[in-house]
Amino acid sequence: MIIDGKKEAEIIRNEIKKEISDLKSKTSKIPSLTVILIGDYVPSQIYVKNKEKSAQEVGIKSKILKYQKKISEKEILAKINELNKDKDTSGILVQLPLPEHINKEKIINAIHPKKDVDGFNPVNVGNLSSGYKSIVPCTPLGCLLLIKKVEKNLSGKHAVIIGRSNLNGKPMAQLLLKENCTVTIVHSKTKNLQNECLKADILVAAVGVPNLVKKNWVKDDAIVIDVGINKVGKEIVGDVNFDELKDKIKAITPVPGGVGPMTIACLLKNTLECFKAHQL
Ligand code: GUN
Repeated sequence: MIIDGKKEAEIIRNEIKKEISDLKSKTSKIPSLTVILIGDYVPSQIYVKNKEKSAQEVGIKSKILKYQKKISEKEILAKINELNKDKDTSGILVQLPLPEHINKEKIINAIHPKKDVDGFNPVNVGNLSSGYKSIVPCTPLGCLLLIKKVEKNLSGKHAVIIGRSNLNGKPMAQLLLKENCTVTIVHSKTKNLQNECLKADILVAAVGVPNLVKKNWVKDDAIVIDVGINKVGKEIVGDVNFDELKDKIKAITPVPGGVGPMTIACLLKNTLECFKAHQL
């Protein structure tokens, strides 16, 4: 089975659109998302443009604040503080990566946890890892929703996550633990990656190595979720060798058209949740 992330994302976007339209008729208010983009890194420019377009399509007011690479950390922090206080801003997102002279930790800490639509602020990270209510990072949330489309009850399943980033691997592990999975995180220093992956009922690859996961790395009944977006020549490929695996295993996400559209749908979902929680 090939998991159609594009279709699932569209279903979520339609639900969000309907809810926003209903809320607008009742309250005359709509959610708003402000995205801060620093520098001229082309992939970030494309991601941010897509986020803005998708937000507008569901009725979220969206604004991109663009800054030159040389902008000071102080100026960005001042802007974040202003947006934190702004009653009309539901969500704030600072697109990563940042230029080297800007401290990512300081920036992420500055975003008010209630407006942190990425779920990267340590308050949200801590709440998620404690099993409390929190804003959940968009990509792992999207992955979980796709996994649950294939298998509703994940209790007792062995989940293996390749990659330990704050954006994907770590929050993915927390979400799957909450679903009562047995969770293994593997990474660049793990010995015998293939052996670990062969234990997976659910395999999430989020490491940024093109076609890393091969046919003989997974069980036939595994669900494989590919978070990778890697440019190889002119092609975009995932961390999983899709062609080798697609007819062998239970379910797999393609790249593109798998996790990517779900990340954006979940960002819209988080923005709507922030709006409902603090602006209505
Ligand atoms: N850069 C790549 N992915 C992301 C994301 O999910 N959020 C932000 N803020 N930056 C990113």
